[in-house]
Amino acid sequence: MSERITVVYPGSFDPVTNGHLDIIERSLSIFDRVIVALLINVDKQPLFPVEERVDMLKTVTAQWPRVDVETFDGLLVNYALQRGAKAIVRGIRALSDFEYEFQMALMNRRMQPQIETVFMMPAEKYSYVSSRLVREIYKLGGATPGLIPDVVEQRMKQIKY
Ligand code: PNS
Repeated sequence: MSERITVVYPGSFDPVTNGHLDIIERSLSIFDRVIVALLINVDKQPLFPVEERVDMLKTVTAQWPRVDVETFDGLLVNYALQRGAKAIVRGIRALSDFEYEFQMALMNRRMQPQIETVFMMPAEKYSYVSSRLVREIYKLGGATPGLIPDVVEQRMKQIKY
């Protein structure tokens, strides 16, 4: 039997968008197991606390038995290695994402040459979606239905900005 391949899909997911879900689904079509890894970043002031982001991620990925949601801190490559992952998956929406992602991928490879980085493109309809813009739009009283999962949209509307 061929080796089962686990990948890590890391991020802040503040909040998870349909673009993220699109990348997870694409990863599932290639790899056996996807660990969605939420970074615990003490330096950043998030919109949603870690527990709530994990909760939303678990809800929206519950349809996929081959997906696990976990948190990590410290270096991503160490975490990936420790979880037995072969690669890190990152979504690339536009050329503007590329420079930072390329730099990070090469730095990660320098630290752990056995962990590859795989870039994937989301569906065109999500190519302009970002958690940062979603946060900004809801804060200013707007909405982005269809670009974030319904459960996320409900929670975004509940927040007192
Ligand atoms: O969704 P984001 O915020 O763009 O994800 C960024 C993330 C979590 C992939 C990146 O910040 C990360 O890997 N952080 C962990 C710390 C680390 O390994 N830093 C060295 C990167 S070369």
